[in-house]
Order: sequence, then C-alpha cells, then structure tokens
Amino acid sequence: MAKVLLDPSKATSMMYAGASTFVTCKDGDRDNIITITWQSSFCPAPAIVGISVTPKRFSYDMIKNAGEYVINIPNKELLWELHYCGYMSGRDVDKFKETGLTREPAHILKTPMIKECIANIECKICNVYPIADGLYSIFVAEVVAAHADDRYFDGSFWKTGETGGAELLHYLGGTKYAKLGETVDFKDAVKKAKA
Ligand SMILES: Cc1cc2nc3c(=O)[nH]c(=O)nc-3n(C[C@H](O)[C@H](O)[C@H](O)COP(=O)(O)O)c2cc1C
Repeated sequence: MAKVLLDPSKATSMMYAGASTFVTCKDGDRDNIITITWQSSFCPAPAIVGISVTPKRFSYDMIKNAGEYVINIPNKELLWELHYCGYMSGRDVDKFKETGLTREPAHILKTPMIKECIANIECKICNVYPIADGLYSIFVAEVVAAHADDRYFDGSFWKTGETGGAELLHYLGGTKYAKLGETVDFKDAVKKAKA
C-alpha cells in the first residue's frame, strides 16, 4: 500500500467524516443558523459534546452570549439548505426565511430547533476553550435534551440503508458530501472469519 506524505492541514479533511449539522443559536430576539462540521461527542453520561467555531462567524458571539446552542441533524434532503447556511452569513440574511426551514420550540432551551431535521440535540455550554491562538473556540456543552425521529433512529442506533433509514450528510470539503450508507456489524465479520 503506497501512501503519500501530505501537508498536515490536509488531515482535517480526512477527519471530516462526522455528520454535518445545522447549529441554531439565539441571543435576545435574534436567532441564526450556522452549518457546522467540526463537532464531536466526548462522553456519553453525562452526555458531553462540542463544536468548533471561529470568532469571525456571526454566530460566535450569539452562542457565547447565550451559553447554549442546538445541534440539528439533517437527512440528505436538506443538502441545499445545509450548504447555504455554510456560506451565507446571518449578518446579511435571515437564514430561516431564505431556506424556509421552520423554527420549532426546544424542550428546555430558548434557542429554536429546526423542525425539518431528523434529530435535535439541546446543548448547554459548560466550557469554552480557545485554540490556535484564538483562531477558533471549542464550545463544550452538556446535552440537556435530545429528540429523534424513530423512522431514522431506533433509540440506540441510526437505522441505515436497506431499512430505509438515515442518510446523514458527511462533508468531504469544497462542495462535496457523502451520505451515510449501510450498517456493517462486527458480529457478521466474526461469523465470516470463522466460516
Ligand atoms: C459543510 C460546512 C461545514 C462548516 N463547518 C464549520 C465549522 O465547523 N466551524 C465554523 O466556524 N465554520 C464552519 N463552516 C463555515 C460557516 O458555516 C459559514 O462561514 C457560515 O456562513 C457562518 O454563518 P454566520 O456568519 O451566520 O455565523 C462550515 C461551512 C460548511 C459549508
């Protein structure tokens, strides 16, 4: 297997594999949507997650001031809206209005969720870590409520492929995305190895 030595900056593209999300935020009367790919979960119980946002984004101060945000997970049908919210700024447009996405009240937070998304995760910020000399900050948060459409999430796992389940959008960079495809189970690999 021949591998090419890359510039370290290319490593982030190889780690884009997590699903891309809409993050909603609300500061006072103003709300907004920002597309976020640099997100991760860190701990299951208590459920701790985080997003990485640069202060250049209009959403940055809104998220910081509010101390909360909602991660909204789209299925493949929302590709246009996802990319739109990733290059247009709330400084210039009302992204709810322009995309037609619908605000849905959250269970606990003041920040609205996005109705058309197949899952919504309400997050209360517990730590903010500036990284890269303040170029980005990681907003670490505790999940205070989580919602999912049971056609796509069975309570423990995403349903995929043959069951007509979730086709989450995974950002590859530029304008390209991949869809979540099929579930492969370690148990089947064991059976195959033993056969
Ligand atoms: C697929 C995709 C993923 C993105 N992920 C991030 C991210 O994780 N963090 C970030 O700061 N910006 C990210 N961006 C860029 C912002 O979404 C974009 O600059 C957006 O217009 C900012 O909106 P705002 O100014 O209304 O906050 C991403 C853009 C795209 C298209």
